[in-house]
Amino acid sequence: MTLAIAGYFSFVLLKAEDKSELLIGEASHGHFQIELACSSCHTDAFGGGEVIQSACVDCHGDDLALAHDSHPRKKFTDPRNADLLEVIDARQCVSCHTEHQKEQTHPMGVTLPEDYCYHCHQDIGESRLSHQGLAFDSCASAGCHNYHDNRALYEDFLVENSGQPWLQVVARLADSNHAANQAPTRLPVQIADSQVQRQQHDTITGQWLLSAHGRAGVDCAGCHTQGSDMDQAEWLEKPGLAQCQSCHALETRGYLDGKHGMKLAAGFSAVTPQDSTLQFQSQALHEPQGCTSCHGAHDFDTQNAAVGACLSCHDDEHSRAFLNSPHGRLAQAAIDGSKPWAEAVTCATCHMPRMTHKNPGLNFAAATPGNLSLEKTVDGGASLGEGHEATENAVISVVHNQNLTLRPNEKMIRPVCMSCHSLEFAIDALADETLIRNNFSGNPKQHIESVDWAVKRVKH
Ligand code: HEC
Ligand code: HEC
Ligand code: HEC
Ligand code: HEC
Ligand code: HEC
Ligand code: HEC
Ligand code: HEC
Ligand code: HEC
Ligand code: HEC
Ligand code: HEC
Repeated sequence: MTLAIAGYFSFVLLKAEDKSELLIGEASHGHFQIELACSSCHTDAFGGGEVIQSACVDCHGDDLALAHDSHPRKKFTDPRNADLLEVIDARQCVSCHTEHQKEQTHPMGVTLPEDYCYHCHQDIGESRLSHQGLAFDSCASAGCHNYHDNRALYEDFLVENSGQPWLQVVARLADSNHAANQAPTRLPVQIADSQVQRQQHDTITGQWLLSAHGRAGVDCAGCHTQGSDMDQAEWLEKPGLAQCQSCHALETRGYLDGKHGMKLAAGFSAVTPQDSTLQFQSQALHEPQGCTSCHGAHDFDTQNAAVGACLSCHDDEHSRAFLNSPHGRLAQAAIDGSKPWAEAVTCATCHMPRMTHKNPGLNFAAATPGNLSLEKTVDGGASLGEGHEATENAVISVVHNQNLTLRPNEKMIRPVCMSCHSLEFAIDALADETLIRNNFSGNPKQHIESVDWAVKRVKH
């Protein structure tokens, strides 16, 4: 009897077409797009704890490793820390991030009360005078500490980078060297159909000739064919993500990992603004997200992709404020040509910075059209915005996962703000919610003291 029920449950969970009735509660803000893809988390209907744990780690493990997670699981499998686990079993993701309880979920999918750091670190005032008398729910407030990602907040880092002027452009944006990233699987062979199509479509042919694809010799057939056997290939009317993916594996991987592509990655149709609770332009509500929502199909204008394209969809207070902000005026000057493009700050500067892959860790051979589930191996050499040296094997690409630097927003400090601003200024600005709403028009209104404390402690 029990087996029969379990069997039925596993059938509906993993196989049934319409799963909405089974949903036991709305998914968190991070997962609502895939809440009906039950099997992406419940990979086995019979499995409990470890099954879900490994699903979380499959999707998030690489990013947590890239973030040098301050509280990795191995800290808690250490027997000396066993007593700490009695209150919060920090070995399990679900101890802090459960699902299907949207009403009780805090930002970033956290389902713990706000004073949880205190359970494990209540003695901190004994070793640090600066921390005596701090409120027990203040450890994780903006600009102080995060649970996972403290790359910009470690004490050594604070001390080392203190005392710089608020504005000093120290690093220009590196060019991505995506040419090196092209998969060899789809050579730009000419097929007869390309000739015919070129004659029939002058405007398209003109745009293509001037584009990076035309210049690099990527023929019409490079995109307009399905399958990798060019001799057999037939003209494909509407190329999609799978065609782009066959040559641009890293960009596509990033895209599928963030909110723009996560629905596609789960096997659904692309997300449209209508699915979201954020504010969008009304004429874009039904626009599906895809590579061509920011890049044209034949003219490839990366400047437009970095601002204009975003604003054709996003229409919340922060996005609307951009063009009149100090950064936005720099971007407009660069678009007019009165400033070099490398000095512009665009939406993409913050939301799509550069990433260096010393060992891209993507199996390019697996990147054939139609195969969205690119094999992912650990990219041990990936780094976000730390000295982009284009060494021989390194690939520099544009991060296509808008969420990689989004929350907690201290993730932006090192790969983005510190190319131009001091650490103190960046911490203060990102802790100021008014500045985020008005897209950084003005000075930060409060000062976060963490850098001062760190410097003082080291000097004494
Ligand atoms: C983003 C990941 C995710 C998705 C997608 C998801 N769940 Fe869950 N689900 C969880 C987590 C996490 C728990 C809590 C497990 C725990 O606390 O041990 C859970 C718990 C449950 C439970 C309670 C039983 C149990 O094992 O604790 C049921 C029933 C359930 N989910 C059904 C569904 C169904 C049906 C769908 C699809 C409509 C779905 N879930 C989609 C993550 C997910
Ligand atoms: C199929 C892949 C997938 C699985 C499985 C999955 N996630 Fe996610 N998760 C995502 C994506 C994609 C996002 C949205 C982009 C982002 O915020 O990184 C996300 C977002 C999040 C967020 C951030 C929410 C926010 O609002 O900023 C947390 C926390 C999270 N996931 C934890 C978990 C935990 C814990 C599990 C296991 C119960 C899990 N995820 C399972 C793909 C997955
Ligand atoms: C002891 C509690 C705790 C545990 C255990 C935990 N998290 Fe988190 N997680 C948090 C908190 C708190 C945040 C909010 C941001 C921060 O402080 O780092 C967060 C944020 C996140 C985020 C979004 C922000 C980011 O830095 O990427 C993801 C994704 C995430 N957790 C995934 C996981 C996964 C996967 C696991 C299991 C391997 C896990 N978490 C285990 C507490 C926890
Ligand atoms: C379940 C217990 C637990 C919770 C909850 C917890 N920590 Fe920790 N934390 C630890 C342990 C264990 C260590 C490692 C201590 C060591 O290595 O000496 C640690 C290390 C640290 C460190 C030193 C970082 C490093 O890499 O050396 C900081 C800072 C820190 N925690 C802050 C926090 C903050 C802030 C929170 C809440 C967002 C928090 N912790 C929540 C157990 C916990
Ligand atoms: C970088 C990939 C790429 C290359 C190279 C390319 N196309 Fe396209 N083409 C696309 C995409 C994407 C679409 C749009 C599909 C859609 O609207 O959904 C498209 C659409 C078309 C259409 C349909 C009409 C339209 O505008 O929607 C024609 C005709 C066409 N392309 C002709 C050509 C010709 C001729 C060439 C060579 C001069 C060429 N394409 C090169 C990607 C490409
Ligand atoms: C047959 C391989 C191939 C396919 C398929 C392909 N590309 Fe490209 N792409 C290239 C090459 C080669 C370059 C030029 C690299 C260089 O100049 O360094 C390029 C350059 C680009 C650029 C940079 C443009 C610039 O001005 O710097 C973008 C954006 C781009 N591709 C997007 C796409 C999109 C979107 C698709 C799918 C519609 C696609 N590509 C399909 C090979 C391809
Ligand atoms: C949200 C808008 C957006 C979407 C969607 C998007 N891109 Fe991009 N892409 C950009 C921007 C912006 C740049 C240039 C950033 C810059 O120069 O600062 C870029 C640059 C590129 C480049 C050249 C730089 C590099 O990383 O090598 C390639 C290739 C590319 N995109 C491919 C793709 C493919 C393939 C897809 C679909 C999987 C895609 N893009 C979807 C905005 C987008
Ligand atoms: C075709 C419309 C469209 C375009 C163009 C577009 N976006 Fe989005 N964007 C979306 C949708 C839909 C979401 C999903 C929102 C959600 O999950 O609630 C999203 C999500 C995001 C998020 C994550 C929001 C969150 O709360 O997790 C960021 C950041 C973002 N977009 C930035 C950009 C930037 C920067 C550009 C230009 C380079 C851009 N978008 C272009 C439609 C678009
Ligand atoms: C100087 C850096 C910077 C620039 C430029 C910038 N943003 Fe943001 N953006 C942020 C930060 C920081 C956040 C807040 C992250 C957080 O704390 O939740 C954010 C949040 C967002 C969100 C998520 C809003 C939400 O409520 O979830 C979207 C969407 C977004 N930005 C789109 C854009 C677009 C579109 C542009 C250009 C018109 C742009 N941003 C320009 C830094 C920037
Ligand atoms: C490519 C360089 C560059 C990057 C990257 C950059 N900024 Fe800026 N920022 C500037 C410049 C230049 C100005 C001054 C513009 C002016 O006043 O003409 C500025 C102005 C500001 C201001 C307004 C100060 C005032 O007094 O009005 C704030 C706040 C700010 N930046 C925050 C940030 C944050 C936070 C980040 C990272 C998320 C960031 N910036 C990334 C170059 C940059």
